[in-house]
Amino acid sequence: MMKIVFLIIVFGLSFQSCTFENLEPTIAVIPEQIISYSAVIAPINIAKCNDCHVPQGTGNGDFSTYAGVKVKVDNGSMYSRVVLAKNMPTPGTGYNLSETELNQYTLWLNQGAKDN
Ligand code: HEC
Repeated sequence: MMKIVFLIIVFGLSFQSCTFENLEPTIAVIPEQIISYSAVIAPINIAKCNDCHVPQGTGNGDFSTYAGVKVKVDNGSMYSRVVLAKNMPTPGTGYNLSETELNQYTLWLNQGAKDN
């Protein structure tokens, strides 16, 4: 009788350990992409911001040059409006950033908003 109980316990334990092994999560390490201003951000600005954010435009600031964009990075409004409040580009105007574009913009800002 004891032998049977022992076997049941051993079987149970080994079965359990197998189950746990199979459930071990596979951690996928995704290297963080370096977002380039010239290759990624400038084209987004041209397509989604520059109908307003140019010298004679309705937008506050000139995003046709890195220097103009940097002014809004430095005053904190780029992060607060685009990433946090998500109310730039102006909602409902058809210029909304796609999820990918928003992720790229966020990464670029978090990486120091370099002129790269
Ligand atoms: C349809 C026109 C329009 C588009 C497109 C647009 N903006 Fe704006 N933006 C404005 C206007 C008008 C203001 C000024 C009024 C305000 O702050 O809401 C402004 C203000 C801002 C400000 C605040 C500047 C400050 O110093 O307070 C930021 C940052 C900004 N926009 C970023 C962007 C970015 C980045 C894009 C493109 C990804 C974009 N906007 C697209 C019209 C636009």
